[in-house]
Amino acid sequence: MLSQASEYAASVDHLLAALAIFSVFICLAVSGMILYLSIRFRSGSPATRGRVPKLLGREIEVVWTAITAFAFLFLFWWALTGWLSAERLPAGALEVHVQAKQWMWKTRQPNGVREINALHVPMDQPIVLYLNSQDVIHSFYVPALRIKQDVVPGRTETLTFTANQSGAFDLYCAEYCGTSHSRMRGQVIVMAPDAYTRWLDSRPRGETLIDIGKALFTAAGCAGCHASRSSVHAPELTGLYGRRIALADGRLVTADDAYLRDSILLPRRDIVAGFEPVMPDFSQSLDDGEVSALVAYIRSLGDDK
Ligand code: CUA
Repeated sequence: MLSQASEYAASVDHLLAALAIFSVFICLAVSGMILYLSIRFRSGSPATRGRVPKLLGREIEVVWTAITAFAFLFLFWWALTGWLSAERLPAGALEVHVQAKQWMWKTRQPNGVREINALHVPMDQPIVLYLNSQDVIHSFYVPALRIKQDVVPGRTETLTFTANQSGAFDLYCAEYCGTSHSRMRGQVIVMAPDAYTRWLDSRPRGETLIDIGKALFTAAGCAGCHASRSSVHAPELTGLYGRRIALADGRLVTADDAYLRDSILLPRRDIVAGFEPVMPDFSQSLDDGEVSALVAYIRSLGDDK
């Protein structure tokens, strides 16, 4: 049997087993009825063929409709709560950046340690993956963790998991992405926390995505207007991430990853209330990795005022 490397994996399996049992039960009940009725009412059988007693007919209808409606709503609620719990990003999680490209997975630990087709994570610690694609649509799929997320170019996708079992688990690309799609695979290596720390210390430390974003912030010219001492009237970025902001057209949006990314690439679309649409378009001058680094940097400005 496929290993369950997280509590979430176990909960997905319980739901799947319940759905399978439910489906088999319905399938047997319906085919059993078909078989029984076609024998009982076969041509020439002595079964009574009069009208169904009226009261009984309606009661059966009401009870049957109520039971199936309840069962349907229960299954819907069960699946929805499981899915929503998987969508919620836990606080204090380890942030790992994953870049997909034809045909490999490049990962970057919070301290900048980089790997290709491998991802080391500590056990029992919530992990949040920020996923980007450099070219086409890929799909990050780890069956043992029951997680799968399409990685779409031009977007930052998130995925969270907490592994509760150490070991090496297969990572696949689950979206056909070109000639070597089938070779675009790697491993998620779950380690005990102290072993993970030792592993991390043994690796050459690279630049973190935040460092890259911070350097780009000046190099690409963002700091010219968005730095706190700037004379140009541009929105303050410190403490922006995750906040609700009012736009010039009256809409309220949350400054999440997608919003920050769009603001860099499509600066004329969502103008913050009280500001002029003067920001230049960076969609030609920054590549996807650079946008992710800038977004990571702005996210890191968090709300440390
Ligand atoms: Cu990447 Cu398939």
